[in-house]
Amino acid sequence: MNHFINIKDIPIFKLRKIISDARKRKLNRKRLNILDIDKDEPLKGKLLIQMFEKSSLRTRLSFSIAIKQLSGGELTLRPGELHLGKGTESLSDTAKIISTFGSAFMLRTDSDDKLKNFKKYMTIPIINGLSPSSHPTQVLSDVFTIEEIKKKPISNLQICWIGDAKNNVINSLIEASVKFSFKLNIGCPKKYYPNKKLLAWAKKNRGKIKIFNDSIKAAIGSDVVFTDKVISMNDKVNKSKKLNDFKKFKVTSKVMNNAKKDAIFLHCLPRGNEVSNDVFLGKQSKVWQQALNRVYVQKSILLYCFNKLR
Ligand code: CP
Ligand code: NVA
Repeated sequence: MNHFINIKDIPIFKLRKIISDARKRKLNRKRLNILDIDKDEPLKGKLLIQMFEKSSLRTRLSFSIAIKQLSGGELTLRPGELHLGKGTESLSDTAKIISTFGSAFMLRTDSDDKLKNFKKYMTIPIINGLSPSSHPTQVLSDVFTIEEIKKKPISNLQICWIGDAKNNVINSLIEASVKFSFKLNIGCPKKYYPNKKLLAWAKKNRGKIKIFNDSIKAAIGSDVVFTDKVISMNDKVNKSKKLNDFKKFKVTSKVMNNAKKDAIFLHCLPRGNEVSNDVFLGKQSKVWQQALNRVYVQKSILLYCFNKLR
C-alpha cells in the first residue's frame, strides 16, 4: 500500500504512472454516465472513508465519484460528531478504528501534525485532501489538465503563479515543478515570497523557479497562468490588510496579454477577487475542465494507494 501525502515524497515515475493511468481511464469512459463503473472494477469491495475538517466542494465530490467509478464505496465522517473531535477519544484509537473498518482514508485537515499522526497509526493508505502546507491531489490533477490541454509534457512549458506564494497550493506546485521539471515563475508581494526551506529544497534539486515582485514580469512568455484565493482557509491574518497587499497582483486581461497568445488560465477554486471576471469567464479559462479532471486523477491516486495502477 502507499500513502499520498506530499508530491515531493513520491518518485517521479510513480507520479507519471498516476497521470498516464488517469488519461487511459478518462478515454475509456467517453460514453459512460457519471456513476457507471469502470469495466475492470478494480476497487470492488473497498471502502474509502473521508473526513473534512474544513469546507470542500470539489475534493469531496471528486473522491466520492472516483471511488464509485472504481466500484468501491464511500463514507464521509463529520469531525464534530466524532469523539476525537470532542476531545474524548485519542487520535491513535480513532486511526485504528478507521483502519479496521475502512480500506483507505482521505483527510482534509487544519493541522499538518494531525496528518502525520494519522499516518503513524493508520494501517490503511491515507490521502492528504488539503492541509495548511500542501494540496497535492489538486496540483497533480492540474499537471494532468495542463498536459491534456497543451498536448505536450509539462517540462516543455512555463507555468506562472500570481498570488500568495506561501499557501498550500503553491507549495505543492513548487514540489511538482521540481519533480516534473517545469519552469515556474512566481509573481507576488515580497512579504509573501515562498517558504525559504522549500525554495532551498527546490534549488538543491535543480528547480527552475523565478520569483518576481511584479505580476506582468512573472507572466511574460508563460503557457499557463495560475492563481488562488488571497485568503486561504487556514489564514489567521488581518484579511483586509492582506487583500490590500495583493492589490497589484490580480490576474487581469493585461496579465494574460503578457503571457503567450495561447496561454490558459487555471484556478483551483473557490475564487475571490484575485482574478477579473473577464479572465475567469473568458476563452483562455479552463477552470471547469480543471475541476472535473479531479475525478480522473483521484481515481488513479486511489489505485496508486492500493498498488493497482496498470
Ligand atoms: N479546489 C478544491 O480543493 O476545492 P474544494 O475546497 O471545494 O474541495
Ligand atoms: N489555498 C486555498 C485552497 C482551497 C482549495 C485554501 O487553503 O483555502
